[in-house]
Amino acid sequence: MKKVAIVGAGYIGRLHADILCNKIENACVTSIMDNVEKKGRDLADKTGAVYYKDFDTMLLKADADVIAVCTPTFLHTEMVIKAAGAKKNIFCEKPLALSVEDAEKMITAVRKNKVHAMAGHVLRFWPVYVKVKEIIDRKELGKPHHIYCERLVAFPDWAESGWNKEEDLGGGGALDVQIHDIDYIISILGKPDFINSQDTYNSVYGGWAHMVTNMGFSDGISGCVQAGWGLPPGFPFTNVLRVVCENGTIEWILRAGKLLEKRGLNSPMVIYKPDGTISKETPDDTDAFRNQWKYFIDCLESESKIKNATFEDGRNALEVVLAAIKSAKKGKTVKIQ
Ligand SMILES: NC(=O)c1ccc[n+]([C@@H]2O[C@H](COP(=O)([O-])OP(=O)(O)OC[C@H]3O[C@@H](n4cnc5c(N)ncnc54)[C@H](O)[C@@H]3O)[C@@H](O)[C@H]2O)c1
Repeated sequence: MKKVAIVGAGYIGRLHADILCNKIENACVTSIMDNVEKKGRDLADKTGAVYYKDFDTMLLKADADVIAVCTPTFLHTEMVIKAAGAKKNIFCEKPLALSVEDAEKMITAVRKNKVHAMAGHVLRFWPVYVKVKEIIDRKELGKPHHIYCERLVAFPDWAESGWNKEEDLGGGGALDVQIHDIDYIISILGKPDFINSQDTYNSVYGGWAHMVTNMGFSDGISGCVQAGWGLPPGFPFTNVLRVVCENGTIEWILRAGKLLEKRGLNSPMVIYKPDGTISKETPDDTDAFRNQWKYFIDCLESESKIKNATFEDGRNALEVVLAAIKSAKKGKTVKIQ
């Protein structure tokens, strides 16, 4: 049984608490820390955990094997470095940080203290995304030519003190939302050789709010991500995954609720073959957030190395997304090292 302390009892912290308490047999939530006392205490009461008002005190006193960092993005670096120093294993929400330098400091702290760490790149555990990656990896439809991902959502208006409206605290939708799909494409094709992005600056929604990013890989393979949180309230959370391969095209479209609450709606993955046949497959309906935690907790229990959604993966995704933002700012194609 692994004991988890959650810092940040906001939208995603509450979602993780629910998963850990109700869907993972070998984990439990022992501690909650949030500087907004009411939110922290409410979640602590709900989960039967101890509430802490101060992060350093929680690190010192909490009975925990894992710290789950679910605070606004600008706080991740400091909290992860402190948690690693306290010899705690770490789950950190995406984006890991706001700069590659900060992500590298986090990786150094994790390595130096020999703790296990995982980044919250949940698409790597989302059944349909896992299935599509398997089809591509096994070349079941031949060589991939193009991967298209879409992630569109109305602005998350619940953020505490509106941190996501400040570019230097949240990085805008281009960072916060787009990083999911950029990471997914990297998990299949590796980092792109170059990137070209367009966006318009939206100062109300924290900067770069709706970005289209084209990614170029060797052999003429391409990727494209359209992602943002600049959609009007009421626009349903929309996910699209389309992969054009040599011998067929896969497509999956999900239009859910405001954000993740209706993620369980299962929509079929459709495969179009060159001979005109069309087949539909509904991937298993296990919850991606449950799968993510199960992987992490099982790795900890068996003392196995974390190989998926590592902090290095989080750093690479961050590097590519920041290059996309640079491309949009300068109106130029940016090469990736
Ligand atoms: N994986 C996903 O699909 C997903 C979805 C939503 C958010 N996120 C990420 O999760 C992080 C949090 O987003 P959110 O939507 O939950 O934000 P939120 O504002 O709803 O929650 C953040 C919580 O952190 C608390 N907090 C702020 N400063 C703190 C401090 N110094 N110490 C302790 N607690 C503090 C706030 O009071 C709030 O309760 C962001 O990095 C975001 O990108 C990931």
